[in-house]
Amino acid sequence: MKNIDWANLTFGYVPTDYNVRCYYRNGKWGEVEVCSTDQISMSIAATCLHYGQEAFEGLKAYRCPDGKIRVFRMDENAARLQSTSRGIMMPEVSTALFEEMVAKVVRLNQEYVPTYESGATLYIRPLLLGVSAQVGVHPSRDYVFLIFVTPVGPYFKGGFSSNPYVIIRDYDRAAPLGTGIYKVGGNYAASLKANHIAHEKGYASEFYLDSKEKKYMDECGAANFFGIKNNTYVTPKSSSILPSITNKSLMQLAEDLGMTVERRQIPEEELATFEEAGACGTAAVISPISYIDDLDNGKRYNYGEKPGPWSKKLYDTLTGIQYGLIEDKHGWTTVVVE
Ligand SMILES: Cc1ncc(COP(=O)(O)O)c(C=O)c1O
Repeated sequence: MKNIDWANLTFGYVPTDYNVRCYYRNGKWGEVEVCSTDQISMSIAATCLHYGQEAFEGLKAYRCPDGKIRVFRMDENAARLQSTSRGIMMPEVSTALFEEMVAKVVRLNQEYVPTYESGATLYIRPLLLGVSAQVGVHPSRDYVFLIFVTPVGPYFKGGFSSNPYVIIRDYDRAAPLGTGIYKVGGNYAASLKANHIAHEKGYASEFYLDSKEKKYMDECGAANFFGIKNNTYVTPKSSSILPSITNKSLMQLAEDLGMTVERRQIPEEELATFEEAGACGTAAVISPISYIDDLDNGKRYNYGEKPGPWSKKLYDTLTGIQYGLIEDKHGWTTVVVE
């Protein structure tokens, strides 16, 4: 194990020893290469730099109490990257190649997987870039798919806790028929200003409404939203949100725990009826919401300062599976280091 103060890491970037890369040239993927530099070299005319022809993914490896290192649902991240690739005209990375590269990069950097006790994890960042030199707006011919890893700190330093969110109407993250459902950098560039405003006003994150009617709940920052009432888990159905793998898993667990699951449009007024609400994603699993402010209408939707019982149960169940503490009935985890 590396000598790192695991418990005090942030969600930053710590260089590790290796990354893995694979090049797409002449219409096919080549051999997987192991690199020990974190620099890449490409033409100043590469399509990823000018036209945003790039995509990424985010998942984690967990050092478990049984000594094994597990990765969570990497086949789902592979499938989402394939969907993104189809969306912005890039070649697909097969699930087999994606999984082989994830396992390899984690094994190579296993000394950087934080201790279980620290609550920190190893963040895995796959990245697909169009690298052909051209100035016309059309898809690249050549690509590089690479994966790097970096240890990241525990999301909840003081324990699982709730945070306030704010509805922002002046900015959209994605259009109804745009790229919101894909994990491309442009969506995140579009969110920087609204996120900055939310932070300046003291909120954990911004909340987007649907960009067409400004009527329905969409996403909260870089996370999906869910509300809970009457033993029902409700989450938005929208053509502009990223299909979160955490949300998909929570929907399954909610059903397993005997809840009803509804995926449908959520009008803003319905926020007043939820008993619990949360943001979900790989970073925090669940980030419970204490309240959501709608400053334009002077409204506050309150869910309490402490995480509710369902949120806690869902969080404990999902993290229990990720750390190999609860039976993985759905086969979601892969042991990459025994
Ligand atoms: C915009 C956005 N929505 C939702 C999520 C949550 O997705 P996942 O649960 O797959 O991490 C993410 C990223 O992690 C995201 O960037």
